Amino acid sequence: MLIHTNPEKQQFHLTNGQISYIFHVMKNGQLGHLYFGKALRNRADFSHLQAYDVPTAASCHVYEDDPAFSLETVRQEYPAYGNSDFREPAISVSKEAEPHVPNFTYDSFTILEGKPKLEGLPATYANDNQDASTLQISLKDEFLEAELILNYTIFRDKPVITRSTSLKNKGSEYLEIDRLMGAVLDLPNKDFIVTHLGGTWGRERHVKERKLEMGIQSISSLRGASSHHHNPFMALKRPFTTEHTGEVYGFNFVYSSNFIMQVEVDHYGMARVMVGIHPFGFKWILPPGELFQTPEVVMVYSDQGLNGMSQAFHHLYRDNLIPDQWKREERPILINNWEATYFDFDEEKLVNIANSASELGIELFVLDDGWFGKRNDDTSSLGDWQVDLNKLPNGLESLAQKISNTGMKFGLWFEPEMISPNSELYKEHPDWAVGLSNQPRTLGRNQLMLDFSRPEIVDFLYGKIAGIIKQTNLSYIKWDMNRNITEAFSQKLATNQQGEFFHRYILGVYSLYERLTKEFPHVLFESCAGGGGRFDPGMFYYAPQAWTSDDTDAVERLKIQYGTSFAYPLYSMGSHVSAVPNHQTLRETPLSTRANTAYFGTFGYELDPLSLTEEEREEIKKQVIFYKEHRRLIRDGDFYRLMSPFEGNETAWMVVSQDQSEALVGYYKVLATPNSRKQQTLLLSGLAADMAYAVEGKTYFGDELMQVGLQLPTEFNGVNRQVAKRGGDFQSQVFYLKCVE
Ligand code: DGJ
Repeated sequence: MLIHTNPEKQQFHLTNGQISYIFHVMKNGQLGHLYFGKALRNRADFSHLQAYDVPTAASCHVYEDDPAFSLETVRQEYPAYGNSDFREPAISVSKEAEPHVPNFTYDSFTILEGKPKLEGLPATYANDNQDASTLQISLKDEFLEAELILNYTIFRDKPVITRSTSLKNKGSEYLEIDRLMGAVLDLPNKDFIVTHLGGTWGRERHVKERKLEMGIQSISSLRGASSHHHNPFMALKRPFTTEHTGEVYGFNFVYSSNFIMQVEVDHYGMARVMVGIHPFGFKWILPPGELFQTPEVVMVYSDQGLNGMSQAFHHLYRDNLIPDQWKREERPILINNWEATYFDFDEEKLVNIANSASELGIELFVLDDGWFGKRNDDTSSLGDWQVDLNKLPNGLESLAQKISNTGMKFGLWFEPEMISPNSELYKEHPDWAVGLSNQPRTLGRNQLMLDFSRPEIVDFLYGKIAGIIKQTNLSYIKWDMNRNITEAFSQKLATNQQGEFFHRYILGVYSLYERLTKEFPHVLFESCAGGGGRFDPGMFYYAPQAWTSDDTDAVERLKIQYGTSFAYPLYSMGSHVSAVPNHQTLRETPLSTRANTAYFGTFGYELDPLSLTEEEREEIKKQVIFYKEHRRLIRDGDFYRLMSPFEGNETAWMVVSQDQSEALVGYYKVLATPNSRKQQTLLLSGLAADMAYAVEGKTYFGDELMQVGLQLPTEFNGVNRQVAKRGGDFQSQVFYLKCVE
């Protein structure tokens, strides 16, 4: 049993032996939070965990003259504003603009085996009824004639609680929702460091940290995408928590549009975490009888450091988020023509690239931007999803056949959500673009966006893409999205409904993904948004991998992939070897280092194989063989970060198989150090202490590797040229460990 209830005391305890989440109904009928953290034993009554602080100062507002109860000091599950709690609320809703402070009080609960689907939204799922249990708490506000449902799911074997909220209009008048958070967590103190993943194009998801302090600290997006700038992930770790030890709470929002994740630390040092759709500009008009469902919040607790937290996210997303098919199937090693040709290609050039790549053992050829309309640069044709016969005179089908003749699968780039003002589609349907035609509209990369809040536009895109999938027998689609939403209005929405636009837009995106992935489950989708601008769990529900960043420079990728791994598994990260000088940084790194970095992801190439030397081709053949040998380990293993690129010149990480019988370790040193130590060791993690592992011609026990360390090959120190095995800038090495009897 994962959910224990005490109906008499109105207490609820979700526990799986790893974590406990406990809450109850308070004396005012609202829900109070008692505990989230490492598992506690279950008991009949948890009342004693409630700390009713007697408010001391005159500024404390007590509840109905009870001097021992103030909403200002109790921990709550879903707070409102306007009562004795002056912090930002989880909910703000009104009926026909009538004055009223929301007062949702407990009505009933339901326990469901498994996990119900969130209609129209991506969310984690249970694989069967034993995998998870869901508790739904129903609260009612009589004045509003509304029901608030808080959904809590606990998974059998993961230190994870997922939460979401829905609001049902049970009356006969419209409700206006201004704010409805997915989840709130009131923590008893503020002794945490906030960790989040920030950046911009070309340097997404860098690890940022700061101490929690009194006041509100938040990360958010108002771009209509989860964004390059702030990933919808946040962790609160204790000051002494490391990668391997200590307490940390992790939060991730299963959503791809405007979000907020904030922590409000009050005057008593309590920390309130809130995650949800960004309330700025949001207003949802809820008609009688209808329900509004928030996206889901994933909450992880780990007492095994940041690696423990990350592994919990990774396991959840691998087992309970990505499409079933892609849990088992190998992801193909791909070659993408973008950096090889940009817009300048014809059939012959592409087939030559494909032939040459196929000889290297590469399995999938992806034709990127520029194959449709009259798209010779980024100023035209988005929306015109007809092949450009000037470049491909024999059509897409013929190209697909020629690619297939090389022994490779065929994949294609789309940017379904866009429309170029210079396109046939725009001439035909100028009103399909986002924004109002009588007001100025901002171009981004010379393009406008299609109004995905309108089902007929989503239908049109479905028809186009489905047709091409069938015609060319596509195996893979790269779904790109290269600008953020401005002038976010729909020509079809009523004036008082324009606050619904952003959410309706992303629901349209999800519905197109849903239809395509259901209809064509064999097609592998890779999401992309000018690199990693929409790298979030919402996307992974449909597309199990995402283009991590347009920046393919190996040194930059260390930081990007290290940060990304805080929440997302290796097998979600598209990571490719590209040419040097690198197109984003002009840096020249060795081919081996580029591959040693890209192996820790879904592997591929982003270069022109025809411009390689014979020596490079031989090296790439070996890389491809190496990845094929180890991709299952990379997909299913547990990932450990060992040395952070944000803290020094070296980076190290490793992946260990579930049975601990093998592991792959990546070590990287960005700049050479003169007169460095003769012997350097790298402390490993996650191995079985009593298993013997063969590596680098030696045999170590797991405890030796974890406590003494793996001895790194001798580094060039200025004089030892004869014996040095490594040296120079941008050096790296990957070690394979295999247990021996
Ligand atoms: C941005 C993507 O991130 C690139 O990989 C490439 O597909 C271009 N768009 C094409 O326009």
